[in-house]
Amino acid sequence: MMNVVTQMRQLIQLIAKHNHAYYVMDQPSITDNEYDQLFHQLKDLEQQYPEYVQVDTPTNKVGGEALAKFTTVTHAVPMLSLGNVFNQDDLFAFARRVEERLPNQKVQYDVELKLDGLAISVWYEKGILVRGVTRGDGETGEDITQNVKTIRNLPKFLHGDVPELLEVRGEVLMPKQGFEKLNATNEAKGEKTFANPRNAAAGSLRQLDPEVAASRPLAFYAYGIAQCEPAHPLETMHESLQWLTTLGFEIAERQFLCASIEEVQEKYEKIQAERPNLLVEIDGMVIKVDNLKQQQQLGFLSREPRWATAYKFPAVAAVTDVENIDWQVGRTGALTPVARLKPVLVGGVTVSNVTLHNIGEIQRLDVRVGDQISVYRTGDVIPKVERVWTELRNTDLPRTKLPSHCPVCESPVVMPKDEALARCSGGLYCAAQRIEAIRHFVSRKAMDIDGLGDRWVESLLHLDLLKDVSDIYHLHNHRETLLGIEKMGEKSVQNLFDAVEKSKETTLARFIYALGIRGVGETTARMLANTFQTLDALRKANLDALKKTPDVGDITAEWILDFFKAKHNIEVVDRLLEVGIVWDAPTASTRQPLNGESWVLTGTLSHCTRDQATQMLQALGARVSGSVSSKTKCLVAGEKAGSKLEKAKKLEIKVLSEQAFLDLMQQYGQNLPTE
Ligand code: IVH
Repeated sequence: MMNVVTQMRQLIQLIAKHNHAYYVMDQPSITDNEYDQLFHQLKDLEQQYPEYVQVDTPTNKVGGEALAKFTTVTHAVPMLSLGNVFNQDDLFAFARRVEERLPNQKVQYDVELKLDGLAISVWYEKGILVRGVTRGDGETGEDITQNVKTIRNLPKFLHGDVPELLEVRGEVLMPKQGFEKLNATNEAKGEKTFANPRNAAAGSLRQLDPEVAASRPLAFYAYGIAQCEPAHPLETMHESLQWLTTLGFEIAERQFLCASIEEVQEKYEKIQAERPNLLVEIDGMVIKVDNLKQQQQLGFLSREPRWATAYKFPAVAAVTDVENIDWQVGRTGALTPVARLKPVLVGGVTVSNVTLHNIGEIQRLDVRVGDQISVYRTGDVIPKVERVWTELRNTDLPRTKLPSHCPVCESPVVMPKDEALARCSGGLYCAAQRIEAIRHFVSRKAMDIDGLGDRWVESLLHLDLLKDVSDIYHLHNHRETLLGIEKMGEKSVQNLFDAVEKSKETTLARFIYALGIRGVGETTARMLANTFQTLDALRKANLDALKKTPDVGDITAEWILDFFKAKHNIEVVDRLLEVGIVWDAPTASTRQPLNGESWVLTGTLSHCTRDQATQMLQALGARVSGSVSSKTKCLVAGEKAGSKLEKAKKLEIKVLSEQAFLDLMQQYGQNLPTE
């Protein structure tokens, strides 16, 4: 067998090569999937042989625990700031000041994007990334090495002509696409969303737990060299950045070399027009004297270089009136407030709506119908609220409140204590949630109506034949209409009817799962079915009884209660029962709540033997396996649990202590034999 270290080194080099091809050359040489496989292979090896983890590993498992706080580091070379110019006159005055100090010399300007992220400094010793520090106050910053190591396009070791010491300066930011995806995912999970990519990047870098930073789509773009030993022969900014790319760094997607300040102005206008199409947010351009000797000649004035300036884009903001605040209901029932505005031009685009995100944001801004607000647009076209002019409010406008009922279906709106988003409780009935509810209802693990795919669902909704899921069981009354749908022949219509008919015989667990109650996945549905035995008992269950059900958390218990409180949901459930959906009453022998699940036992159990634990699990339908994998449902960890526990934690698999396990077994009626 190949030596572990050799294997790890090979993988690290392969991953670095593909990173370079992907990020620097923009020519991916393998698919994302293949890349992930390499990455996981390395991670698995590292998990198996933690003692051999390499210092430059891209998986960043070296010292990867969360920190209590960041340590402070003094910058060897201070991280200075830039002066600003805001218009052509200021720009030309900057050029005059530069050129007056360099008589009879030709000056070329390096024009770069002013990336709207956070400045950091990264250190490489003998080509290996050893430290990352925030800008801080310019003199001292915070050591964020662990987080910096999780930035995928930041080289962990350098290629080519590697100096003894290299300190590179650049910007960390979240490209727009990654930012939108992160916000969409967080929103769907009911978690906090970020106002802009800059905040998202800052929030991610400030995480003490590198795992969180690693999960965020951050990127690093180099824009300067602070130290290089031994010195590398470089004459211009352009050469410097090019050299950095050969070492493995990525630089911003645009850079220009201009022979005159007039040309700089042209590029500034060009980039302003291209701004919405860029991958990252920028807030202006940075104009630098290209020649490094000339930079030295010019030097600094207090804390700003004389050889560079930031040419900021004008703020695009306007004041307008809030005419109304509407609540939109998303496909998962989440309510999003949208302010309807008196149309106003903001940087050439008419803005008449702006999202207010959630009720928390409304309270923070204290925005009310009738208020005047400033809206602004950054690089993208999506407008945002900058501020509410509460001081201009002349009458006592009523505070904006969360509606008590869904604006689409009038079911009650609910918002458990620890959730950020309010939702409509009429999941089965609400027209806004219809398509999701139907898709879920027919899915394989729910009612399993495989003849009713997405194409069918869309056509049926279009024909208004599915007002709610119970209408699925009345489709046979519309045979002629269905046959009229393009590409739906006799056979597919009959298949559909057969599948619908067949689905009527189901299990209580499947039926509960099919209702699409928030937080009730397949396992929870099974637990509910086993605990309550009948739908009627579940419908009547109070909060306490629900909370006591295995696998049901406090918030899910509230969602279940809210679901069965909504009159409309009950109507749909009753209609479903009327069409003849049936299930067998659970008997002792069919009570296998852990059916098909894979469980693992590890560590020393002190109240039962492994054999007894295995027997109890098997009696409930579980398989007991010797090793943890992504398929493992739950790990029972006794005293001195070791690598299996570690692995389960990494894979985010549920872990039960011995006591919790025994309690669960007891709830399922599995008791230990008394001696
Ligand atoms: S050069 C001596 N280049 O702008 C100054 N800075 O206001 C060195 N920034 O803190 C800075 N893009 O975070 C430089 N292409 C770029 C930049 C850039 C963004 C930021 C940087 C710095 C701030 C200065």
